Amino acid sequence: MKYNYRGMTIYVEKDYEAMSKAAAEMLLSQVREKHDAVLGLATGSTPIGMYQEVVKAYERGEVDFSKVVSYNLDEYYPIQHDNDQSYHYFMKETLFKHINIKPENTHVPSGETKDVEKTSQEYDNAIYGLGGVDLQVLGIGNNGHIGFNEPAPVFAKGTGLVDLTESTISANSRFFASIDEVPKKAVSMGIATIMTAKKVMLMASGKAKAEIIAATILGEITPDVPASALQLHRNVTFFLDEEAAAVLLETLK
Ligand code: PGA
Repeated sequence: MKYNYRGMTIYVEKDYEAMSKAAAEMLLSQVREKHDAVLGLATGSTPIGMYQEVVKAYERGEVDFSKVVSYNLDEYYPIQHDNDQSYHYFMKETLFKHINIKPENTHVPSGETKDVEKTSQEYDNAIYGLGGVDLQVLGIGNNGHIGFNEPAPVFAKGTGLVDLTESTISANSRFFASIDEVPKKAVSMGIATIMTAKKVMLMASGKAKAEIIAATILGEITPDVPASALQLHRNVTFFLDEEAAAVLLETLK
């Protein structure tokens, strides 16, 4: 089902697989329309199914990434890029090594830099210089974070170092041997960086996301729910499965 709410487009799909396919179609269309598209990419468990669909389309010869450029949302800090928990590693293993994107065209914030401020400014300047990415892919944290922009008194502007909240550290500990190994900081694109994207797509799956999806789309625009800033974006599409959409649909129906 497709809904429109205050200029936002919302697709509600039956399950995770259907949501992943619908989201992949949007990303693939972007690359087919513009061969040198600039993609903003996300990590986390939610987009994995979408990336698998993208890889399948590439293997079928339906899409060419040779001119595509990518900028990822975030990276733990500090972390070595060959650490298998880093987002550099995740992107290589999940997507980049399976398609013909050029490694030099892929960008992920550095977890190794000594000068986070300088590299963050360079990262933002590169994105601003492009007039924003063409299509930004987002997941959403249980607390409403996008990238690693956690609930805060004000919206983060540009890319920079952020402290992860207890809720994010605990949610992400499932990927680590123990909670003590989860980095306490990250480098993340800011909300202002994300808002420069020409198009934004946000994916969410499962009932743990149902409340925060409703708050994001229907609630106040507040840095307590960082994703609510997307209500101010001119071109945003949500891909939800029925569980993630359950609370939202109580109001939209
Ligand atoms: P998840 O994370 O896809 O693993 O639920 C989403 C996020 O934290 O942005």
